[in-house]
Amino acid sequence: MMHKVLTLNNISVSGLRQLPRQSYEVASEIGHPDAIMLRSFNMHDMEIPETVQGVARAGAGVNNIPVESLSKRGIPVFNAPGANANAVKELVIGGMLLAARNLAPAWAYVRGLEAEGKELGKLVESGKKQFVGFELPTRTLGVIGLGAIGVQVANTALSLGMRVIGFDPQITVQRAWELSSGVQQARSMDDLISRADMISVHVPLVDATRGLLNAERLKLAPQGTIIMNFSRGEIVDEAAVLAALDAGDLSCYVTDFPTRETIGHPKVIPLPHLGASTHEAEENCAVMVANNLRAYLEDGVIRHSVNFPESDLPRMDAYRITVANANVPNMVGQISTALADAGLNIADLLNKSRGDVAYTIVDLDGPVPEDTLDSLRAIKGVLKVRNLGRPTAD
Ligand code: MLT
Repeated sequence: MMHKVLTLNNISVSGLRQLPRQSYEVASEIGHPDAIMLRSFNMHDMEIPETVQGVARAGAGVNNIPVESLSKRGIPVFNAPGANANAVKELVIGGMLLAARNLAPAWAYVRGLEAEGKELGKLVESGKKQFVGFELPTRTLGVIGLGAIGVQVANTALSLGMRVIGFDPQITVQRAWELSSGVQQARSMDDLISRADMISVHVPLVDATRGLLNAERLKLAPQGTIIMNFSRGEIVDEAAVLAALDAGDLSCYVTDFPTRETIGHPKVIPLPHLGASTHEAEENCAVMVANNLRAYLEDGVIRHSVNFPESDLPRMDAYRITVANANVPNMVGQISTALADAGLNIADLLNKSRGDVAYTIVDLDGPVPEDTLDSLRAIKGVLKVRNLGRPTAD
């Protein structure tokens, strides 16, 4: 069977290599796609074809994807958590050093020097006092959000001798294991803000995190605190940050999301959304989502989706269907009844739910006739039914 994948951005070649040519057609223009792969393309204004079964984001943030409406259509959205974490962490450390050592104005100063020889040497030595900075050990870094990136930032800052406090009421068991025991747990976000010399935010952009660092919270920060934003621009209330910088309450804002208002501000270090822009991260993200998309298209397995439950049922020599449905009672009962009515014997079944969505993988002893698939689709609450047939040997 040929799977058609529409790409909305350039996807790293190593990622595309995971989709073998004999069974995948991948192109930036393609009719009736089974799946979409993208990076930061804005899908909110686009009409998503009826044929689409899955969307794969080669990156972490999914705020460019209409996740909620895709969930209602029974379409999982995959992302690549952790695949770019090292890249972002390294830039956060770079951002801390830029701010701590006044590197941007120091560099600009040197570039502006026109003198030569001894005169140049004199200006270098006399100019440096304007850029005296501070060292990281003993300073306190507050990390808001301890996902794959936040944990790496916290652990690295600790290894640089900083005091680190973290806050994440939803930290997963996996991330808690990865987090160094030297990272202190803040009692609340306000507690973290009131104790940090530097604050770095590492949360996804969703309604609950929009304007997370607002005027009220920023007032709690000690005099001279530095804010770093390598997550998404809207997480920080920019007007409040600019006001606090102008009032001298904050000393610097390092942001990967420049705006007209921040570019050129003497206390802002704006970067062009560079956090995940390394060859390694682009490759890691593309490979991870391509593999997970392939597992979904071919086997109905769900790994690393932002809206569907993890659902992994090993493939055996059986006929497989998958059903995405609203998370309401008696769905599995109705699905089993429809299959039993067709005389089909269930060999294996997995049912998982997450929020409003539930997902069922069913392995059967025989092929599922079209009219049975139609009966399944007609069950109230069923969002999508896929007939994957038997596994094919590659
Ligand atoms: C991400 O969400 O993965 C990063 O911000 C980089 C990107 O948007 O591709």
